[in-house]
Amino acid sequence: MSKSDLENSSDSDAPSNANAVAAAKPTVWQRFKASLKRWWWCYVIGVSIVVLVVVLPIVYVGIPHIANSYINKYQFDYEGLAITNPRPTAFHIKQSTKLKIGGGFSGSGTLTPFNASCKVQSSDEEFAVFTMPTIDFGKGANLDIDQDLELSCVDCMSQLAVEAVTNHSFGVLITGTPYLKYEALPTAHLNIHMLMHMNGYNFTGEFTEEVYFLNENGAFNVTSVDLLDPPVDGFNVNATMTIRNPTPFIIEMGHITFNLSMGGSDLGYIDLPNLMLQQDVSSSVVLGNLDISMLVHEALFGDGELGEVTIDVKGHSCDYNGLEIPYFAAAIKAIQASTTLDLLNYASSLQNF
Ligand SMILES: *[C@@H]1O[C@H](CO)[C@@H](O)[C@H](O)[C@H]1NC(C)=O
Ligand SMILES: *[C@@H]1O[C@H](CO)[C@@H](O)[C@H](O)[C@H]1NC(C)=O
Ligand SMILES: *[C@@H]1O[C@H](CO)[C@@H](O)[C@H](O)[C@H]1NC(C)=O
Ligand SMILES: *[C@@H]1O[C@H](CO)[C@@H](O)[C@H](O)[C@H]1NC(C)=O
Ligand SMILES: *[C@@H]1O[C@H](CO)[C@@H](O)[C@H](O)[C@H]1NC(C)=O
Ligand SMILES: *[C@@H]1O[C@H](CO)[C@@H](O)[C@H](O)[C@H]1NC(C)=O
Repeated sequence: MSKSDLENSSDSDAPSNANAVAAAKPTVWQRFKASLKRWWWCYVIGVSIVVLVVVLPIVYVGIPHIANSYINKYQFDYEGLAITNPRPTAFHIKQSTKLKIGGGFSGSGTLTPFNASCKVQSSDEEFAVFTMPTIDFGKGANLDIDQDLELSCVDCMSQLAVEAVTNHSFGVLITGTPYLKYEALPTAHLNIHMLMHMNGYNFTGEFTEEVYFLNENGAFNVTSVDLLDPPVDGFNVNATMTIRNPTPFIIEMGHITFNLSMGGSDLGYIDLPNLMLQQDVSSSVVLGNLDISMLVHEALFGDGELGEVTIDVKGHSCDYNGLEIPYFAAAIKAIQASTTLDLLNYASSLQNF
């Protein structure tokens, strides 16, 4: 074979060989393109089905699920929540707060108004239905509550109030089914089941080894004591007391009375004419009808250190505008504690006696 023959053969054969191979074995992409030309409509349907199967659950199940779980775990900020104007079967509740929205909800949306059922966690009984306002959220949200809460079960509210003063924690279960409109996604139907846990007062620590709230350092201080001589309206003591509020709420309690005793003997009673528990520390006037000579005798000759008296405190009543507030009264009556005071701290006001 001559050189030119070789060249000719390679010139003419090589490309045709390559074409033959290509025609016999098209690449995957080429085959796909060829098949797409014919079967494109099948692919469109297939892709649509995959999209629907994957995306729809995310939208219809995932989004509500994420939203539910986000709301149920939301650490609600009770800051500034005020319970005022207590009546036998209702009270006013007010809070204006900024909700922090996180959890991937960076867009904007709306949670429709809904009726939130409030239950005592320990008994699962509904005590009120709270009308939750519309919550529009974008970068955060405002929650403005300013409404009367009518109690459908006063006994349940009493139970809750008793738990709040006797236990170190208590819980309210909130349930409701609002709608969530989030960005351009379809409206999601939520199912809220939110447990709100709060700290209580531990008042009846005498039944356990726990520190009694009243005996805990700094739970309350008697800041001044004045003897009323002659007595005013039957009271012979006018004192001022500061009380720490372990709950995050502002609570208007009204008129509260306690019975006091010492070593089983009746010492008299005290009267807090208008107790308003502020968020941290509140101050209240305390009027007392007390057996002063018994107090002084105990301080001087009692079992304790000189000046020290141990007083047993028993809750007696709670009323507001002359009406008994049954749920607060139940909580006050559950208070049974004892506290030790050093009367030498108030010696200057007591010495004249
Ligand atoms: C809440 O309940 C009341 C009384 O049952 C009803 O009139 C009202 O429409 C409810 N509100 C919502 C947002 O469901
Ligand atoms: C008191 O608190 C404890 C722990 O938080 C809880 O397990 C218990 O059920 C509560 N008791 C009542 C009567 O609420
Ligand atoms: C109640 O007691 C618990 C411990 O038993 C304590 O952690 C909590 O701070 C106490 N609460 C108050 C209000 O004293
Ligand atoms: C009571 O007095 C103590 C010591 O001065 C202080 O640390 C505590 O915060 C006071 N408590 C209240 C409720 O005022
Ligand atoms: C008790 O003292 C407070 C001020 O400390 C005073 O406003 C109040 O009028 C007094 N009450 C009586 C009955 O003296
Ligand atoms: C308890 O207090 C109330 C009012 O504060 C009083 O009327 C009642 O006589 C007191 N009870 C005892 C046993 O001291």
